[in-house]
Amino acid sequence: MKTAAFLRLSGFAIFGFLFLNYIGTTGEASIFIEKPWLWGAYGILMLIYIAGEVCIAALSSILYRSLEPEKQAKYDEDLALAKENQFSWIKTTYKNLVGIKPVEEEGEIVLDHNYDGIRELNNKLPPWWVYGFYATIIFAIVYMVRYHVFDGTDQIEEYQIALAEAKIEIEEYKRTAKDLVDINTVVRLTEASDIDAGEGIFAGNCVACHKVDGGGGIGPNLTDDHWILGGGIKNVFKVISEGGRAGKGMVSWKAELKPAEMAQVASYVLSLHGTNPADPKEPQGEIWVDPMASVEDVEAMIKDQPVTEDIIKE
Ligand code: HEC
Repeated sequence: MKTAAFLRLSGFAIFGFLFLNYIGTTGEASIFIEKPWLWGAYGILMLIYIAGEVCIAALSSILYRSLEPEKQAKYDEDLALAKENQFSWIKTTYKNLVGIKPVEEEGEIVLDHNYDGIRELNNKLPPWWVYGFYATIIFAIVYMVRYHVFDGTDQIEEYQIALAEAKIEIEEYKRTAKDLVDINTVVRLTEASDIDAGEGIFAGNCVACHKVDGGGGIGPNLTDDHWILGGGIKNVFKVISEGGRAGKGMVSWKAELKPAEMAQVASYVLSLHGTNPADPKEPQGEIWVDPMASVEDVEAMIKDQPVTEDIIKE
């Protein structure tokens, strides 16, 4: 009796916990984590349940004692019988599913051939196997109708849907996480806030060599059409991130500046293009032509420049 009571208590405890958890939890975390006082309520509930169990046990013990001796004996007998048959349905179901004939009844299914004393039993397929087989047939029909007759979403489509969703999520993430920019994804920033931030970074780190107006000193002029290492946002970002040619004085800034900051200062540098610095350094490097620029833009840019053969060719 004690084990049964213990089993009931555990069952009640587990069910109670899962039930409260299920109806109470709305957000991500379990209600037991969000509202720790619930543990107290749960504990009280358990105590009430145990008290109930104890009361019922006491009551039945009193009733038992009040019975006459023969009735007590009859009661014990009934109880023993009930206990014996307690899980009989499990045993019957198991036997039915396995479908094996007891050894005593094997005579009924022995086949009537006999090779040197070796005989064969006509055992049926075990029912669990047969039912499993029927289940696969039903499954196959449902599957075929769902995915091949009607237009169910098959694995490939599911995969493509997931892929499209992931792409949207990545775009979303990239838009919010600016520090994710690198040489491949960097674009020229035009927002005034970014340009202002870039100006601040430039004033703090770059003016010693490039001058406040970008006219150049130790470093080259950043306002003209000529670039030693290539113009455009990608090249400029790359020079700032990785540094210029070895030994020239332009170091890599990626340890000091975050990717987003390098994109800002690079955009600021590009915004200096075409301004007239006070004491510009003479042009260095080549005229850089954006491969994506329109013909008019390029013509306008090289209008005042000494045009050389190789520029026309490009
Ligand atoms: C110590 C001096 C020094 C500092 C500080 C410095 N630079 Fe430079 N910078 C140079 C030199 C020198 C070069 C030329 C590199 C070469 O020839 O390879 C250069 C080249 C460049 C170029 C490429 C120019 C071209 O013509 O291709 C860019 C863009 C640039 N620097 C931006 C910056 C920015 C932005 C900062 C601040 C974060 C900065 N520099 C800080 C010295 C400096």
